[in-house]
Amino acid sequence: MPRETYYITTPIYYPSAKLHIGHTYCTVATDAMARYKRMQGYDVMFLTGTDEHGQKIEEQATLAGISPKAFVDNIVEGPGGVYDLWKLMNISYDRYIRTTDDYHIKSIQRIFRALYDKGSIYKSVYAGKYCTPCESFWTESQLQDGNCPDCARPVQGAEEEAYFFRLSDYTDKILALYENQPDFLLPTSRKNEMVNNFLKPGLADLCVSRTSFTWGVPVDFDPGHVVYVWIDALSNYLTALGYENDRYHDMERYWPANVHFVGKEIVRFHAIIWPAMLMALDLPLPKQIFGHGWLLFDGGKMSKSKGNVIDPYILAGRYGVDALRFFLLRELSFGSDGNFSNEALISRINTDLANDLGNLLSRTVSMVEQYFGGTLPETQEAAPEDEDLRAMAGALRNSYEEKMEVFAFQDALAEVFKVTSRANKYIDETTPWVLAKDETKGPRLARVLYNLLETLRLTTVLLHPFIPESAEKAWTQIGAGPEITTWDSAAAFGLLPTTAKVQKGEALFPRIDLKKELEALNA
Ligand code: MSP
Repeated sequence: MPRETYYITTPIYYPSAKLHIGHTYCTVATDAMARYKRMQGYDVMFLTGTDEHGQKIEEQATLAGISPKAFVDNIVEGPGGVYDLWKLMNISYDRYIRTTDDYHIKSIQRIFRALYDKGSIYKSVYAGKYCTPCESFWTESQLQDGNCPDCARPVQGAEEEAYFFRLSDYTDKILALYENQPDFLLPTSRKNEMVNNFLKPGLADLCVSRTSFTWGVPVDFDPGHVVYVWIDALSNYLTALGYENDRYHDMERYWPANVHFVGKEIVRFHAIIWPAMLMALDLPLPKQIFGHGWLLFDGGKMSKSKGNVIDPYILAGRYGVDALRFFLLRELSFGSDGNFSNEALISRINTDLANDLGNLLSRTVSMVEQYFGGTLPETQEAAPEDEDLRAMAGALRNSYEEKMEVFAFQDALAEVFKVTSRANKYIDETTPWVLAKDETKGPRLARVLYNLLETLRLTTVLLHPFIPESAEKAWTQIGAGPEITTWDSAAAFGLLPTTAKVQKGEALFPRIDLKKELEALNA
């Protein structure tokens, strides 16, 4: 029987500047979700890519004195570029789309023509405002203090012959969609925003072509027009599966998408324009859109223009990729904004990773080595005081799964760390070092250490989607082979062989001296 499929996407990024830690946030979250679904046995398609057309890129390239294609090639493929960043962050994407790829361009031309032939697109004149950094059209009444309502930067007047998509036909259909599929757009707060700000006032037709610049997909039946970059970009979720092209043949297998993860400022495009386009194309809609919050720095959104961009290379170099991945998903609630600070990052690494998890692992493995030469004896003696830890660890997969299914990464991780803390407390309660002094207590000591190893196995299996490299190192240390680091194996306590054999390794997450480190960073 074919496995159930799971299609998950990140937004495709504008390669208009080097990506920063804020950009890695969504990709790391998508990666954790994709790894989790693979672990559960799904046939996963994890798509990411770059959105390489538009006025903004054309302008940047002109400034740099090179062609737009050379400009984006450098940011995507060049040293420290997008490919490198995803490699650094250990992102396990299955497919990468560039909107400058030939097959995508051909598909966009076919999609545009199909919409035109169906009467969903018509030609008229556009007169209004345009925010180039956001690549968004605005009417005079939508501006805030004369500026772009999304980014507060100045807008330009735009008047040109253009094609329009009949978005105004979809107000009621999108409202009905939200009504009939309450989970279509999450979290709920985003839905209220869409309803109050855009749907209740009624949708206006959307300008979907430009003539004042050339860096886009040409409308093949009307030279001089290029397709609006958002029509081009949103369609990537289809063209990367082979819609209207022969490059891939995966539409049947993966469409509709299970979920599109997107940042909150682009929810409008994904939860209004995208379903309207799909309805116009008579295609099924994605099952869910999740609009995540922003990683803030000093209370504001990170952006290159604000000069507060945090470099993932520096952070990963100092603390390790897993620590950074972990921080992003443990510190912030996925649906809300959250602050980045070096202090928060270091404290989080110290508390959860160095103290709770790292310590539990190194203490346990050291004790198995010290007291039993690295291999636990067959004869072990259980006691009632084991029950609480065993029950908690055995039930962990269920509570974790519940949180993961609603993309509550922070809560899923909190569940894991409740068990880790419980295990550390269990060491204090059982005092293995006291047991070790009494020869008759050997079997009891062995059991205590076994319970700790087994708790480590269960917790690190569930942490694997978040900190893949470290989890695997932990498995080597506790002697957990591939057959007992699976999703199925995480359902039950007691699968590690009784005579477990450990192998001490390096500390997974060395403790960081907060004061010294902050001084070093500031310097
Ligand atoms: N190209 C469009 C997406 C098209 S999807 C069909 C775009 N690109 S972007 O590069 O500007 O942003 C990509 C994603 O990064 C967005 O989801 C955006 O919200 C996210 N982030 C950029 N800065 C961010 C933070 N500081 N924090 C969290 N996410 C942020 O939009």
